[in-house]
Amino acid sequence: MYLTKYEERIYRGDFGETLAKALRVIVKVGESLGAKKLINISHAHISGVSYSNIGDAGLNFLRDLAREKIFFKVYTTANPGSLDTESIKYFNYSREFIDKQLEILNIYRFLGVDIFTCAPYHVRTPRYGEHLSWAESNAILVANSLYGARTNKEAGILALFSALTGKTYYAGLHITRERYPRVVINVKSHRREYTYIGLLGLYIGKLVGDKIPYIIGLGKLDIERIKTLLAAIGTTGSVGMSIIEGVSPEEPDILSYYNEYIEDRIEIEDKDIKIFEESSRELCDDPEVFIIGCPHVSPEFLLELRELLAKVESKPKKPILLFTPPTYFSNSYLKEILDELSRKGIYVIKSVCPVTSPLYELGYRCVGTISSKALFYLPKLAKTSVALMDLQDIIRRVYESGS
Ligand code: F3S
Repeated sequence: MYLTKYEERIYRGDFGETLAKALRVIVKVGESLGAKKLINISHAHISGVSYSNIGDAGLNFLRDLAREKIFFKVYTTANPGSLDTESIKYFNYSREFIDKQLEILNIYRFLGVDIFTCAPYHVRTPRYGEHLSWAESNAILVANSLYGARTNKEAGILALFSALTGKTYYAGLHITRERYPRVVINVKSHRREYTYIGLLGLYIGKLVGDKIPYIIGLGKLDIERIKTLLAAIGTTGSVGMSIIEGVSPEEPDILSYYNEYIEDRIEIEDKDIKIFEESSRELCDDPEVFIIGCPHVSPEFLLELRELLAKVESKPKKPILLFTPPTYFSNSYLKEILDELSRKGIYVIKSVCPVTSPLYELGYRCVGTISSKALFYLPKLAKTSVALMDLQDIIRRVYESGS
C-alpha cells in the first residue's frame, strides 16, 4: 500500500508504538480488502462502550491509552454505555459494574469523545461524499444510505484506531463502484407501523446478506421509519448501505446503469413478513417495562409521541423508558417536548443503551419494544424476553385502565 511520508512516520513508530500499531492494523485490514492507499476521515464513531460488552480487557486497553495520553485526532462520537451518572437511578446495578462503566465513559471523554449516542447522525449530520470510519450498524447504514456519506461497516476497534490516527483504508464503500446495488427489492406494501417496517428490514437484511439492495415501492417514509428500516437491515444483514427509492441521494446517479449490476429481483408482500414475523418474534405477553429508542430517537419521533400522548391524562401503570441523544436537552424546543413527555410519566434517558444493559439483574423478564433491533438483541445481551408491539399498543397498555 502506498503511504504518504507522514503516514510512513506513524507506521514506523516515530509518534509512538501505540499509534504505529493502530495504523499497521488499518493498513493490514485495508491490504486484505485490496486498498492501495489510506484516506483522511472527518468523523469516527466508536462502538464497544458498554462494560458488559468490553469487560475488563477492554477497560484495561482504554486505561493504557489514557495513561499514554494518546488523544483522538478527529471529531469522535461513541455508542452509549449501559448507564451514565444521571441514569444510575434507573439502572441500579452492582457497584463494581457502575464504577467500571463510569470509568469507561470518563476515559473515552478524556481521549476526545464528544457525545455518546447510537444516532450520531442526529448530532452531526453527515455530509454527502465525506469519508467516515463508523462502527454501529444502524449509524453506518443511515450515513451511507440517507446522507450519501461513505463508511465501511467497521468493527469498534478499527473505528477507534481511525479516531487515533484520523485515517482509514480506501476500499469497500469508500469507492463509488462498490456502492452499486446488486439486488432490487420491490416492496408491495405501504404499511407504516414501526414493528412492520422493522420486521421488513430484518427480512431484507436476511435476504440480501452482504449485497446492497435497491429498495423500491415503499413510498414516502419519515426519518424515524427510514432509520427503523435501516437499523433492522443492519441487524440481520452484513451489508453497510441500501439505496432507497426517493430517499438515497445516490439514487439518481445509479438509475442509468444499475441494471447492469443487478443479480436478483425480489418482491416482498405482506404475507412474507407475516411468515417471517411468526418465526422471529420472541414472545412474552406481559412486559414489565417498555423500551423506546433503539436506536436513539429522532426529534421527529418526539413530535409523533407527543401527539399520541396529547389526550392522555392518566398516570402510566408501567414504566416507559425513552432513549435519546444528550444534545436534545440543550435545545430549548426539544427540551420543552421532553419535559412534556416527562410530565406524562415517561422516563427520558440520555446517552444510554438499554440493550447492552443487564436488565435481567433489575428483575425484568419481559420487555416491550417497538424496535426490531431490540427484538433481536435483548434476549442475547440483556437476557430478557421481548414483546414486539406497535407504539399505539404500548401507549394503550401503559395508560388505559384495566391493563
Ligand atoms: Fe443503540 Fe443499543 Fe440499540 S447502541 S441501536 S440502543 S442496541
